[in-house]
Amino acid sequence: MIDILLISSSAERSTHIGAQLEQSGVAYRLRTLHGEARQLRAYAAAIKTADLLIVDDVDLSARELSGFEEVLAQAHLHCMLVTPAPSTSLLMAAMRVGVRHVLSWPLDDREIADALTHVANKKNAGLRREGRVVSVSSCKGGTGTTLIAVNLAYTLAAQRDKRVLLIDLNQQFADASLLVADKAPPATLADLCSQIDRLDAAFFEACVMHVHANLDVLAGAGDPVKAAELRPAHLERMLTLVREQYDAVIVDVGQSINPLTIHVLDHSDTICMVVRQNILYLHSGRRMLDIFKELGYPASKVRVVVNQYDKNAQISLPTLEETLGAKVAHKLPRDEKHANDALNHGIPVVTAAKGSALAQGIVLLAEMLWPVVAAPRKGVLSRLFATRANPLQQLKTEH
Ligand SMILES: Nc1ncnc2c1ncn2[C@@H]1O[C@H](COP(=O)(O)OP(=O)(O)OP(=O)(O)O)[C@@H](O)[C@H]1O
Ligand SMILES: [Mg+2]
Repeated sequence: MIDILLISSSAERSTHIGAQLEQSGVAYRLRTLHGEARQLRAYAAAIKTADLLIVDDVDLSARELSGFEEVLAQAHLHCMLVTPAPSTSLLMAAMRVGVRHVLSWPLDDREIADALTHVANKKNAGLRREGRVVSVSSCKGGTGTTLIAVNLAYTLAAQRDKRVLLIDLNQQFADASLLVADKAPPATLADLCSQIDRLDAAFFEACVMHVHANLDVLAGAGDPVKAAELRPAHLERMLTLVREQYDAVIVDVGQSINPLTIHVLDHSDTICMVVRQNILYLHSGRRMLDIFKELGYPASKVRVVVNQYDKNAQISLPTLEETLGAKVAHKLPRDEKHANDALNHGIPVVTAAKGSALAQGIVLLAEMLWPVVAAPRKGVLSRLFATRANPLQQLKTEH
């Protein structure tokens, strides 16, 4: 059950929003107040007891958001703005003051239901999680780290019901967010790190792109100049926070080995090193595994994944393992059709081509990294009583 406070400047629209909330399928309690965004401070006491604040104001401008920062910082809740055709400056200002959702009027039923589900999931999730960090890295560009990271994240979120965060750490031209959504992210890793002193759960929420009820994406820096401003200490602070908020944190590290990526690899529970059956990958792949050894990573931390696997390729699996000096933990088949179709539609392969060998390979990789915990077996006594109870049950129903 989530507690919603709706502050609306129009009785007619607040009735309409109320009706749309009802259709969301999420359990909630609603309080409605008549007012405008610029009067927000006056409602601070009511806001403090809510899980979600919805502010509906037709005349909202970036300037009127100044009071929001103070109120939201004290309340630690999700805030949704509803306004016709929000401008880019309004969106940016909203993000800066910690507003998580900006929806345009008239409201889309689906969008509001998704936002409510997200708030409810956050509330039900409890306060602390034990997020496992898995980095997906490679020794060369174009290996498939982004495809693998995105699909792994989607599988864990949609099929395994885990709360997942995907971080795009690519420092050249980050593109992971394009594979899962056709909208611009509210902020990038560089934006977040440039305001690292403000980092808390609410600010983080405002920076991530919410692409599924269980999956958030933190977009990459966008260009190498912005990426150069990232510092290991920023990432350390962010990883400490997100480990508590998510079950799984997948980092698309890409191909760079530098102080920044090494910092993330140090803090990862597992590294998936992606290679292909090609002489260039073998050479740099071997070098990369040597660097991992020099960094002191135990062999069990690194899993070699062969992408675009072809059993007829000149470099066979035994040759590859011998050259790398490591066992291959998993293989993903080459499937250009489904990989390209999914890419062009901005939908993950595991959704767009669920039955394909590539999608199934990703699901198996997710199982390898996050083994499904079997339900505990029943004890001897409960099994004994269970078998005795059945005949009695049968007799009862027969009479
Ligand atoms: N198993 C696969 N079968 C067929 N095509 C694939 C497969 N995996 C990846 N691809 C394709 O290879 C290309 C590169 O993939 P991707 O962008 O994931 O690689 P990357 O390692 O992230 O590259 P970059 O170095 O540019 O970040 C994409 O066009 C993708 O669709
Ligand atoms: Mg990539």
